Amino acid sequence: MNLKGRDFLTLLDYTPQEIEYLLDLAAELKAKKKAGILHDTLRGKNVALIFEKTSTRTRSSFEVAAHDLGMGSTYLDSSASQIGKKESIADTARVLSRMFDGIEYRGYGQEKVEELAKFADVPVWNGLTNEYHPTQILADFLTIREHFGKLKDIRFVYMGDARYNMGNSLMIGCAKLGLHFTACSPAKYFPDDALIEQCREIAKDTGATLSFEEDPLKAVENADVIYTDIWVSMGEPIEAWEERVHDLLPYQVNKKLMDHAGQQCIFMHCLPSYHDHKTQVGKEMGERFGLDAFEVTDEVFESEASVVFKEAENRMHTIKAVMLATLA
Ligand code: CP
Ligand code: NVA
Repeated sequence: MNLKGRDFLTLLDYTPQEIEYLLDLAAELKAKKKAGILHDTLRGKNVALIFEKTSTRTRSSFEVAAHDLGMGSTYLDSSASQIGKKESIADTARVLSRMFDGIEYRGYGQEKVEELAKFADVPVWNGLTNEYHPTQILADFLTIREHFGKLKDIRFVYMGDARYNMGNSLMIGCAKLGLHFTACSPAKYFPDDALIEQCREIAKDTGATLSFEEDPLKAVENADVIYTDIWVSMGEPIEAWEERVHDLLPYQVNKKLMDHAGQQCIFMHCLPSYHDHKTQVGKEMGERFGLDAFEVTDEVFESEASVVFKEAENRMHTIKAVMLATLA
């Protein structure tokens, strides 16, 4: 498998075999890290990490992974660089390509990261856009594979706003690797029709199925994985909260839903999560709407079934695999 020089912008651009290769490589790199075996084979290289939105996991993963691979990394954000306000994406891409071996980009529209990749001479990795979050899916799938020993035929249910980066990317990932994907929310939060159609085409070859369900109890019956994400994403207006809480509260992941799915079911979340009042936003919104938690109850978040921190760790191992595969 040779992925050298490739961008990583959306899983749509990768074949099932290429995605599986990245997961295998991530597992191998994880084992090396745990065994204390150095793997700094990219010594002398450097990567630029552009963040136009905030991040804990993705930034840390790129920085630690780059360091483990022997590379230097430079963090650039919109407030402390020229990006966006004084310099176009196209010019930024051509400048950074002359200094760095790869560029990570987190921002708003997918067209921005596409533009960056078009003008850059080095691999560009999508660290989250409004539409897609492909590195997150690799971590999620590595976590599922570690837990169940397989991906194929896993019954995967996504609860909540399924038309944004997480819902879209998880649907694509499930279609590519043969999982049974269900999005559960009011119909207006289902992914875009054109993307559903594209995924249905992919699913024909992989044995995946895609379904869209408005009834949470029906959706989670026999589920292996229940996944959710925050209801109001980065960059969305504060006014969105009222409508989302109204629309998505029936889709909150709680004990009743997990029990209904059964003992086999694990809980997943890309994080960060509003599962209590221990964050500024969680507290402020919790008090405003009279709720202890939003997309998931604290009880489920903290339960045995929750694998959210394993999932967070796997961000680093999978991002390392993406950088290694596309740079070496
Ligand atoms: N899951 C995720 O992308 O987390 P960060 O926003 O902290 O990077
Ligand atoms: N949908 C969330 C994902 C965070 C990892 C957001 O875009 O804010």
